[in-house]
Amino acid sequence: MARERLTSYLLLLAQEHLEFRLPEIKSLLSLCGGHFSSQQQIHINSPFCVLNIPSEEMARGLMKRTVCAKSIFELWGQGKSAEELYASLKNYPLEKMVPYLQSNSTYKICIHTFNKTLTQEEKIKRINDLEFLPFEGKVNLKKPEHIFWILEDYGVDPNNIPEEPLGSYFGRWIADGQRELIESYSIKKRHFIGNTSMDACLSFIMANHGRVKANDVVFDPFVGTGGLLISSAHFGAYVCGTDIDYNTVHGLGKASRKNQKWRGPDENIKANLRQYGLEKYYLDALVSDASKPIWRKGMLFDAIITDPPYGIREATRRTGSQKETVKATERGTENHISISLNYHLSDIFFDLLNFAAEYLMMGGRLVYWLPIYKPEYTEKIIPWHPCLKLISNCEQMLSSHTSRRLITMEKVKEFEQLQRKQNDKTSYSFLSSPNSSLGNNTEKEEWKMSLPWRR
Ligand SMILES: C[S@@+](CC[C@H](N)C(=O)[O-])C[C@H]1O[C@@H](n2cnc3c(N)ncnc32)[C@H](O)[C@@H]1O
Repeated sequence: MARERLTSYLLLLAQEHLEFRLPEIKSLLSLCGGHFSSQQQIHINSPFCVLNIPSEEMARGLMKRTVCAKSIFELWGQGKSAEELYASLKNYPLEKMVPYLQSNSTYKICIHTFNKTLTQEEKIKRINDLEFLPFEGKVNLKKPEHIFWILEDYGVDPNNIPEEPLGSYFGRWIADGQRELIESYSIKKRHFIGNTSMDACLSFIMANHGRVKANDVVFDPFVGTGGLLISSAHFGAYVCGTDIDYNTVHGLGKASRKNQKWRGPDENIKANLRQYGLEKYYLDALVSDASKPIWRKGMLFDAIITDPPYGIREATRRTGSQKETVKATERGTENHISISLNYHLSDIFFDLLNFAAEYLMMGGRLVYWLPIYKPEYTEKIIPWHPCLKLISNCEQMLSSHTSRRLITMEKVKEFEQLQRKQNDKTSYSFLSSPNSSLGNNTEKEEWKMSLPWRR
């Protein structure tokens, strides 16, 4: 088989959500028909990442989706020192440069330095030092046809900035990523929000980890205010969700905004989608208990993207029969008959994985958050299912002792029901108190539970 011809591109990544960046890039490359070569090196904290991919079209496809990368450049040269960079540029094939250096074209050269600010003089010197490149076009600073960038890497330690860059790159700018979505979809300006509405950047990262694409059907079983539906709809997927809370689904009850007591007449998920011109992608939101799926057998979703309740900012619950409720009361665990039962974390994730294994298309992805009590975390506690392959596991810190992990799994096998095993339990604990707000350590109490399905 003929070997694919690859071109090197330089990604400039945002220095935010560092762990989430590579899984996002990998997922998007596979969505664009490419893959992240295992030979490609990435330093987890570095904003620079060299990609070897077959085409500029693929680079543009990636940038139409990514919120983790700021820009991509066709890489013409790189080196650990200026001399190395110039030597590498002199080796770059002339025929690849010439189309962008023509006498009838316009261009400009920009400089980006990471972890250091250069003086204007230093910048001009850097540009003048490139005079050996055969530029024939005219400089146009306002509206050039081609933009070239010198990028310098001074490491990630602000207290230890080297005199000379650790790495230098030169390339032709190809495209910017979708960072502006973080502002335009900010929950500060969103019509309908709740206490646990997902931050816009993370919502887009989740849709990207889930490889959501146009015309997919995406489901969120714990839909809340529908924050996760919005990012999927932005990428052209049809979206639906369920939530046990009648008020949330119907946009009723107390408002979450500071200066507002009750939710307004049109504060609901559909109105949120309308706010962004995405109403046509809204299928529906239903009041339903995720522990008792309502879907017809054979119904398949392209992706399940969700943020299950984990009792920090909202109680976990499920519907219970009168009999179950009375039993709980008799055991003395409740002092009143409630309309809902505790829905333990282990049950939530057990049900969620079984549901995803049954209702995802083959190759479809489940993306969800798992709360973690950090002192006791080991990879072993990541919920497992024989039909789902773990794709990525990225941590977001919440406090010194707690974090949550974004877990991405892919359906790789036809559905088989996973039965609970009584033995071989993996202990799992998390700091939680249903009534405390995030970060209020004094009110939190520790409780332990088991993830019995783990092999
Ligand atoms: C973390 S919130 C989801 C927030 C949502 N991503 C958003 O952007 O608003 C979890 C949601 O799960 C709901 N929930 C709790 N138990 C449930 C159950 N058994 N079935 C369905 N939804 C449930 C809660 O009412 C809450 O709205």
